[in-house]
Amino acid sequence: MPTLITNIGELTTNVAGLGDDPDDATGLIRDAAVLIDDGRVAWVGCADETPEDAARGEDEVVDAGGSAVVPGFVDSHTHLVFGGDRADEFEARMAGASYAAGGIRRTVRATREASDDELRARLARFVRELHAQGTTTFEIKTGYDLTVAGEARLARLARGVTDEVTYLGAHVVAPEYRADRDAYVDLVCGEMLAAVAPHARWIDVFCETGAFTPAETERILRAGVAAGLRPRLHGNQLGPGAGVQLAVALGAASVDHCTYLSDDDVAALAAGDTVATLLPGVEFSTRHPYPDARRLIDAGVTVALASDCNPGTSFTSSMPLMIALAVREMGMTVAEAVWAATAGGARALRRADVGHLGVGARADLVVLDAPTRTHLAYRPGVPLVHAVYRNGVSARG
Ligand code: NIG
Ligand code: FE
Repeated sequence: MPTLITNIGELTTNVAGLGDDPDDATGLIRDAAVLIDDGRVAWVGCADETPEDAARGEDEVVDAGGSAVVPGFVDSHTHLVFGGDRADEFEARMAGASYAAGGIRRTVRATREASDDELRARLARFVRELHAQGTTTFEIKTGYDLTVAGEARLARLARGVTDEVTYLGAHVVAPEYRADRDAYVDLVCGEMLAAVAPHARWIDVFCETGAFTPAETERILRAGVAAGLRPRLHGNQLGPGAGVQLAVALGAASVDHCTYLSDDDVAALAAGDTVATLLPGVEFSTRHPYPDARRLIDAGVTVALASDCNPGTSFTSSMPLMIALAVREMGMTVAEAVWAATAGGARALRRADVGHLGVGARADLVVLDAPTRTHLAYRPGVPLVHAVYRNGVSARG
């Protein structure tokens, strides 16, 4: 039976032209309603223009009580399959230590020791955590095993909870190959890629000093593309570098972090169609400076926000926190931050069916316990998710 959600105080549709202000990219409609049928948005508009059948009460009717509704968050960057915990590193950083990519190998050890059942149970807990915070689409990367069988195992486990799986064998050079990094790159481009590709949609490389060079990154991404995967990459996280320009040149769907950018990097992003995915949980947890979202948006770059949830640099899965940080620290308006956490994430994953609430979209939406979406930034740390619909089905309320 169709469901009508009505008496919505303000509805973010992310369909430009659908909102009260034709120039508003978030397509905000006040006093709105949305009709869901068969897991999709069947109609959306002002509540007083609700289609007759729905208005007559023939459908299930949900009264949102004047609350704000936003599309389900799209978290396009996480590392959720791992064992262990690195709270001690976080504590040390807060006391003045700096982040080093080498910590990844600690999680590699713990992940290799974890059984399938342990990792599956942990993933299930993360998925509940994501849903409870309004995230309805999420990506997961491998990268915490770094052996052929182990990376395939992580991809298979991730595939059990999401379609958006990314092969990140090139997270750091595996400990066994420290003396022969070329052999590790060969493995990543060869046997490991062949084992993981059937479970993955994306390939990613951590292009950074201490991880992989631009030349290695290019080689790995090209091998992934030849195997049918689509490229994305970690770039310009810990310092300036070639990652951003490489991502644009290779037509990557997104380049993630973008913390240290030159004017040429910004110009390249503006000229290409690679999304700049900003991960402010990392700067929160490493004390690096926040990326300058304003500079990117003013240059015409498409910006996404994601959590980067991982045990090393950002152990939070909260998209509302990313929105709050983006508004407070990165020069984004509330409208831009909400768009980046929904439609921006969808662009970064090249998904047209999520991140908006236009007719035909997947009916993934969040009813907030707040009259406006501004509360996501205005009330940081407060659980404002009242109800979540995934594929039109209420998952929590
Ligand atoms: O996105 N940058 C590389 N990978 C993760 C960090 C992983 C870790 O420290 O365990 C990131 O920040
Ligand atoms: Fe990451």
